[in-house]
Amino acid sequence: MRIPESLAKQGKERIKDYPVEGFVYGEGPDNPVIMLVGEAPGETEIHNGIPFSGRAGKELMQSLEFLGLTRDDVYITSAVRSRPYKWGQKKDRKSGEMIDRKYNRAPTAKEIVAHAPILDYEVKNVHAPLIVTLGNIGLQRLAGKDKKVTQIHGQLLKQPVQYLETMDDTKFKWTEEDYEIFPTFHPAAIFYNRSLEEKLKEDLEKLKKLIEERGLKQKN
Ligand code: URA
Repeated sequence: MRIPESLAKQGKERIKDYPVEGFVYGEGPDNPVIMLVGEAPGETEIHNGIPFSGRAGKELMQSLEFLGLTRDDVYITSAVRSRPYKWGQKKDRKSGEMIDRKYNRAPTAKEIVAHAPILDYEVKNVHAPLIVTLGNIGLQRLAGKDKKVTQIHGQLLKQPVQYLETMDDTKFKWTEEDYEIFPTFHPAAIFYNRSLEEKLKEDLEKLKKLIEERGLKQKN
């Protein structure tokens, strides 16, 4: 599934006044085993156009392997499709001089709203039997601001998801139909907090069971 070019163009236009760069399309088949919803692309992704292809992506591919899945089995997207950045300084290793560089940051509420029509379209058209949110940004974008990944990771939610009814709206509405959402941690969270590794492993075991029980993917 690839979003229509007109929607991508609109998304780029809606976010152009914010400090973001690049645009990465969601990627995956029409009827994936699961849909993965992350936060926003990073530097690697905006250069090669492949979602979750950087350091977090490597971690995510290990999780998929544990689930018996590959990149081709899943639809990968995120709340925001451009890289949110902030300027900072870093010491140049050779010269010792301080140089300006861009650092990743979490997307703001306005940036999430700017790209909401894109994720709304994907949720509606990808037909994933299960949506796996990676971290708080993806979880709260779909399931509501009151949800916290640390509190509900590994618990299957069955509920409406948030969407923008019109392009001019700044507040989300709730869909009439329910979706199944499985919240877990963002793969990059593991880098900053190794104690999450065990919890992620437990979540993946539950997710693997769910996938198998429902026959979403043949056991291997
Ligand atoms: N984090 C995301 O949410 N998406 C990417 O593509 C990379 C990192």
